[in-house]
Amino acid sequence: MSLKIVTPQDGCAWITGASSGIGAALALELASRGWQVAISARRKADLAKIAKGQDNITAFVCDVTDREAMAATATKIEKKLGPIALGIMNAGIYLPTAFPDFDAEIFDRTFEVNLTGTVNGLAALMPLMVSRGQGHISLVSSVAGYGGLPTSAAYGASKAALFNLGESMAMDLKASGVHVSMVAPGFVKTPATDVNPFPMPFIIEAEDAARRIANGLAKGKTHISFPKRFSYLLRAINLLPRGLYVKLVGSSTNK
Ligand SMILES: NC(=O)c1ccc[n+]([C@@H]2O[C@H](COP(=O)([O-])OP(=O)(O)OC[C@H]3O[C@@H](n4cnc5c(N)ncnc54)[C@H](OP(=O)(O)O)[C@@H]3O)[C@@H](O)[C@H]2O)c1
Repeated sequence: MSLKIVTPQDGCAWITGASSGIGAALALELASRGWQVAISARRKADLAKIAKGQDNITAFVCDVTDREAMAATATKIEKKLGPIALGIMNAGIYLPTAFPDFDAEIFDRTFEVNLTGTVNGLAALMPLMVSRGQGHISLVSSVAGYGGLPTSAAYGASKAALFNLGESMAMDLKASGVHVSMVAPGFVKTPATDVNPFPMPFIIEAEDAARRIANGLAKGKTHISFPKRFSYLLRAINLLPRGLYVKLVGSSTNK
């Protein structure tokens, strides 16, 4: 069965982690394409700035790590804007690891937002969409989830888990009418990457990333990755025997 690609006529879009960066740019992009967009995050003032002057963007304060609050937010969104047709689980944090110094807290915090936060969104959204026999859930992962990268043990593991989760969901939900997609950005200029002390190859602006994501969603793609040069390069390196992959990528760091 080929899945129906949802459009603004089917309901609204909900983007988590939309108070800055990719989520904020995607809210503006989807709004410009006719979507009613619900944006959520913890920072109320930043959400308000994004929604200001935008008739079809509505802000909802919500922490993705709070499962009950996520369910309550989905209910509030549907009450105000109608059925959620498109749910984009974008909230995420990057905390670098500094092995051999081990800090389990970094793993806890990363998994709580990037993985459990996404699961909390799914818990709120999946039953609604399945009961309607229609919807699109998109998980924002990262090219860092394709394989291990230096300083990325916590972040990369959380993003790899999202690929596995999303692919499994796509298989299991095939007959339900709910489409599942995964987004794998390379480097995008946002507050999250502004703090990176290293050069970021092929970095693109958040608005550019938002256009590419919106195009991929509209085409009903299952895997949306960009920029192509970087994503294909990483995917090609990941085809190497794993020992060789670890040697090659590991040799690119100064340690
Ligand atoms: N920028 C890149 O190069 C890049 C590359 C690959 C993947 N990504 C992914 O893209 C997504 C967006 O990242 P970004 O670069 O746009 O970073 P960003 O500007 O820092 O945005 C992260 C968003 O997540 C929200 N967030 C963090 N913790 C949250 C929580 N507990 N509850 C609710 N919202 C929370 C933040 O809002 P509040 O602080 O207001 O809650 C913010 O809106 C992330 O999943 C990231 O991993 C980014």
